[in-house]
Amino acid sequence: KIEDILKSFNPEKGEVPFSLFIDNEIYELELATVFKKSWLFLGFENMIKYPGDYFTTTMGEVPVIVTRDQNNQVRVFLNFCIHKGMKLCRATQGNSQFFRCPYHGWTYSNDGKLVGVPYYEPAYVNNLDIEKQGLIAVPNVKLYKGTIWASLAEKPKPFDDFLGDMKLYLDLIFDMFEGNMEVYGGIHRWLLPVNWKIPLENFAGDAYHAPFTHASAVSIGLRGAYGNNVRILYPGEGHGIVSVPGGLARKAVDIDALTPFRDRLSKAVETLSQKYGEFVKNMFPFGPLNVFPNFSMHFTWNYIIFRVWHPRGPTLTELQGGILVFSDMPEETKRQILRRALHEFGPAGVLEQDDAEVWSKISENGVSIRKGSIDPKLIYTRGLGMDVEAEKVLGKGAKGRIGEYYSDVSLRGFYSTLKKYLTGEE
Ligand code: FES
Ligand code: FE
Repeated sequence: KIEDILKSFNPEKGEVPFSLFIDNEIYELELATVFKKSWLFLGFENMIKYPGDYFTTTMGEVPVIVTRDQNNQVRVFLNFCIHKGMKLCRATQGNSQFFRCPYHGWTYSNDGKLVGVPYYEPAYVNNLDIEKQGLIAVPNVKLYKGTIWASLAEKPKPFDDFLGDMKLYLDLIFDMFEGNMEVYGGIHRWLLPVNWKIPLENFAGDAYHAPFTHASAVSIGLRGAYGNNVRILYPGEGHGIVSVPGGLARKAVDIDALTPFRDRLSKAVETLSQKYGEFVKNMFPFGPLNVFPNFSMHFTWNYIIFRVWHPRGPTLTELQGGILVFSDMPEETKRQILRRALHEFGPAGVLEQDDAEVWSKISENGVSIRKGSIDPKLIYTRGLGMDVEAEKVLGKGAKGRIGEYYSDVSLRGFYSTLKKYLTGEE
């Protein structure tokens, strides 16, 4: 069956079978290939500022603990007690030098060493070499400009090759903070009844939905109308950026407290365009983006949000998201940015609800249609063959390809990359 699905999966031609968003076999294959082999975003270093700070998350469905040990080293372990497999840490975040398993009390220090086994003597003393035991470490961890990434692969692709030209655009965002990047207001987590790939499309390249799905937000003046030319940038390697000329919704909301944030962005346009090229002026701040496979950001004049789409089943996704602020901004500015971001994209956000309503209906419909053994091909041909070098549209220094008029160029790229993982080519 998988072979049949893959045969009708021709993303370069804009053909994506609907079963990709519904079927369990495909989902399991994604976990075993994409989420096993790719680099995955885990969080920001600012979330574990001090020794002992930790948070828990997942890589695909694999539970992990991300912690800063007493020597200040960031470490990633499976959230798994090696004794009998209990989930070691059940909190989502905290500070602790040790993790003690709730089952039989085996205790690990936050550098992964097994340091305590209750009633070790006399029955274990000859049968268990404590020194050689410890938490199972995730083999590859990469820190990049304040962000934490990891891969479960034995030999993942070099991190820079994995990012490819996307690195330029992430550099712009992370350099802008000049070391003052702060995750503010905690991590929000909620479940969406939809396949993980559908929501990320909206960040990677489907801006086409915005004027319709979010029509009510435009009509009450919350959002500016987009017009018919939103550019989609495909930097390669499955990543994607939606680039709205002139930046997003600058004038739609005027709250004085946002001024220090906007001033920072304006200043950053100047310094970053000197460093990276004139194109910065034509795309900053650039809107939603997705780093393959499941890390998204939305970069606007009002806030910068990020989110990770954690797969939880063929039609279930756990969204974990938060907002980024400059740590040295006034508290009131941070508070207003948080308020603003949650108002639009929090669990009860007005735009989030528009999107979630559509996504859940795609799943519902999909499950019903697949029960009839029908697998329609979805259409990703918008702008096919029309994309050009980004430099031609955005100016000197830009990298990647641009498709104008809500092109599907980056989505074709996302699915082409996904296909490479599914078929073992990547
Ligand atoms: Fe953790 Fe036994 S399962 S101590
Ligand atoms: Fe949307």
